[in-house]
Amino acid sequence: MLKRLQNKWGVSTSQFAVILCVFAITGTSTAWITKVITEWVGFTDETFWLWRFLLRLSMLLFGYQFILLGVALLFGQFPFFWKYEKKILKRLGIKIGGDNHKSQIVPIAIFASGAGSNAQQIINYFRDNPSVRISLVACNKPGAGVLKIAEQEGIPSLVIEKESFFRGDGYVNLLREKGIQWIILAGFLWKVPVTLIKAFPGRIINIHPALLPKYGGKGMYGHFVHEAVIAAKEKESGITIHFVDELFDHGQPVFQAVCPVDPDDTPESLAKKVQVLEHKHYPEVIAKLLEA
Ligand code: GAR
Repeated sequence: MLKRLQNKWGVSTSQFAVILCVFAITGTSTAWITKVITEWVGFTDETFWLWRFLLRLSMLLFGYQFILLGVALLFGQFPFFWKYEKKILKRLGIKIGGDNHKSQIVPIAIFASGAGSNAQQIINYFRDNPSVRISLVACNKPGAGVLKIAEQEGIPSLVIEKESFFRGDGYVNLLREKGIQWIILAGFLWKVPVTLIKAFPGRIINIHPALLPKYGGKGMYGHFVHEAVIAAKEKESGITIHFVDELFDHGQPVFQAVCPVDPDDTPESLAKKVQVLEHKHYPEVIAKLLEA
């Protein structure tokens, strides 16, 4: 559950620990300050309950938020908590300056190695969405179909060389310069290096054409996956969308969808069923993660 929260917030493990400390210290401080104020105004157990209730409520609604930002500042976590406060205020219908349309745009990068049918679906899905911009298509194969798609769609693309990719140099800076907030792997077949995972903690997701943890790992992609599923006489297969960690097809799952494997299915017919699921669900799941 904690890991899920960490992924949702998109922070590293050490930052996550500091954030939890900020919450704990704020809770304790708010309780203590409320007690001091209660004594200062002279409220006792005999005071009419409504006045005591209103004092506690206003401390919870307003005092807590101010104390939270103060403690966050002390722990160097002001930007995270300010974003958190702005979300709460937005839900209450209050908009804070600087929370304008431009700052709402979430730039994302798609990493792909092949034909790019999933990349195309994602691009189509977000085409008319002013809050999401696909700012980059990164690819490890010169001439891959996905590069053609990027060109047709007017999206900047980047071909990453193997050594540079695993060293993490150059392109990580480019992703930062472009303000990329999420990396979406859509048929990207290289293992993601730790450098990239550290640069985007909890912000890289992948889609796999099987029900992980089965039929994942090195060499398990495309038709190899479907061949293995059919050879094992599985009754069902499907897709898994998951956060990316240091291992192949391994991070925490976000979503799965299932399709039947019929006795007369071939790897090709199964691939088609799985692709239908991918195209339907991947863009929707991405949209939900970006909103969270
Ligand atoms: C998709 O089926 C995706 O699930 C798979 O590559 C295909 C890319 O197709 N990814 C993996 O196997 C990751 N291990 P596309 O290029 O048509 O989007």
